[in-house]
Amino acid sequence: MCGIVGFTGNSVAAPILLDGLSKLEYRGYDSAGIAVRDGDKDFEVVKAKGKLKSLIEMTDHGNAVKGTCGIGHTRWATHGEPSVLNAHPHASDDENVVAVHNGIIENFQEIKEKLSKSGYTFKSQTDTEAAVKLIDYYYKKYNLGPVDSIARAMMRIRGSYALCVMFKDYPGQIYTARKDSPMIIGVSDGQTYVASDVPAILKYTRNVYYIGNLEIAKLEKGSVTFYNIDREEITKTLTEIKWDAEAAEKGGYEHFMLKEIHEQPKVIADTIKSVVKKGRINFENINLTDEEMKNISQIYIVACGSAYHVGMAAQYVIEELTSLPVRVELASEFRYRKMKFVKDSLVIIISQSGETADSLAALREAKENGIKTLGIVNVVGSSIAREADNVFYTLAGPEISVATTKAYSTQLVAAYLLAIGFAKAREEITDERYKELLDEINTIPDKISRILEDKERIQWFSAKVAAVDDAFFIGRGIDYAIGMEGSLKMKEISYIHSEAYAAGELKHGPISLIENGTLVIGVNTQPELYEKTVSNMVEVKSRGAYLMGLTTYGNYSMEDTADFTVYIPNTDPLFAGSLSVIPLQLLGYYISVARGYDVDKPRNLAKSVTVE
Ligand code: AGP
Ligand code: GLU
Repeated sequence: MCGIVGFTGNSVAAPILLDGLSKLEYRGYDSAGIAVRDGDKDFEVVKAKGKLKSLIEMTDHGNAVKGTCGIGHTRWATHGEPSVLNAHPHASDDENVVAVHNGIIENFQEIKEKLSKSGYTFKSQTDTEAAVKLIDYYYKKYNLGPVDSIARAMMRIRGSYALCVMFKDYPGQIYTARKDSPMIIGVSDGQTYVASDVPAILKYTRNVYYIGNLEIAKLEKGSVTFYNIDREEITKTLTEIKWDAEAAEKGGYEHFMLKEIHEQPKVIADTIKSVVKKGRINFENINLTDEEMKNISQIYIVACGSAYHVGMAAQYVIEELTSLPVRVELASEFRYRKMKFVKDSLVIIISQSGETADSLAALREAKENGIKTLGIVNVVGSSIAREADNVFYTLAGPEISVATTKAYSTQLVAAYLLAIGFAKAREEITDERYKELLDEINTIPDKISRILEDKERIQWFSAKVAAVDDAFFIGRGIDYAIGMEGSLKMKEISYIHSEAYAAGELKHGPISLIENGTLVIGVNTQPELYEKTVSNMVEVKSRGAYLMGLTTYGNYSMEDTADFTVYIPNTDPLFAGSLSVIPLQLLGYYISVARGYDVDKPRNLAKSVTVE
């Protein structure tokens, strides 16, 4: 879900493409490429793994590539490791069709099988190549033009895409199609631009068209024609971009963190769809068979920071749904333990970056002990992804803000799916419960969207408490694990000293810290533990705490105890953490903003801790 650019006009295209891609670098990527055409000559395609500067050097800043029509891409790998072979553009074997793509083609395997029967072969490991060759297939089989062949392919494809396509028979033209992935088209003085985001073209024009979902556009020099999926021409309104370049990078949000908080519904849905096909969990991409899941006798979850907090929540879910004991360990501790592993264990390493030194060392420790390993990782081809026996990729896309939100949430959902998959394989849940859980997990994205619609209340409360020096998060069970994440968000971006405690633990010491005005956030979403946690909240309230309650709709008695209550939609208690963490992410964010800190780059912290 990274970056595309396209240009057709009277100027040399390559420098414009490279400049546009450089404006999209902030989004994170692992490889890049361009395809340019000089009139009706053959395409010139240049691709490179790693940073854009390789491409810039290879093409002498684009000046070595002739032609006034071209497309470019920065890739954030989702299917197939970062490599020159997997880098975009991808093409049909005769270069009849050359294209770049942002997004995920969910049914790419099915499409590849279909095309193989018609003699197509595939060079790369990507999902994109399947889409490109499907367009080529329709173009040739039914002797269709570009718009028709793209429309036919769109009807067949499931997933998300922002596609830029060039056809050998149509020099000087670029065709685009969009579903869910972002894309804008700009025009000015006989030049036409397309990009996945505003920063890439802001230097050239502020006049843009927003192409809608399931719409197609034909780009010619200085003009654009739009079509719907039925190939009927449609008109679009030209809009003037008011944002400055910096605001544009964040999609109009003030910070990447807020943008990424709002991306959570989509990336959670993408992650669910990556393993749930036709109402059933399918772990074939993770190489976990039912037999293997039956034979596992113990699970260790090992990670750092927020990823560790995912493990803490996952422990409750896995132990509730299966007979498997789960042990959660900080990677920095695990790697030095002299433990005797339980035979037939599985070590799950959770890591957004896939490069965290402690987590990588823990993975190697487990492998040296002959223990099977599974990574839950966001970066394709990262060290942990490559060295783990199996990988469950979260599809959070590039996460720019140091404080994780969307990666955390997709890790949590991945953990739910593993728990449900294990329980089913081990026949420890009924078919009815299996269906119930999968139906409910699919409601999480919309329920998060509903919480985000109400964010102004949390913003108001954050401003009220922004000056506190201490904060405590209390909860029981999954609520305790979520409190840990809420506490870390508060610490790492607001620099407020904050602790998360098991609510039942307060009486063993911490409650002595509670005094008049101490901020306490009571996370209370687990029905079986609700009354117990309310009692703990009353205990701190009676000692002067300023109390925020976080619970599910319906528990309105919370307002008899808490000074301020945030409600989340009802869901299966096992999944409540995915909803209750959202207000806590927002709380940390808005307090940091109120305190005037650099939310996306907090002091002393790095996005990936690749040292001990
Ligand atoms: C969380 O907001 C922090 N960025 C940090 O705790 C992070 O979760 C931790 O460093 C682990 O990083 P990883 O997921 O890339 O391994
Ligand atoms: N899914 C495609 C790939 O893995 C596109 C990824 C992207 O949006 O950069 O190549």
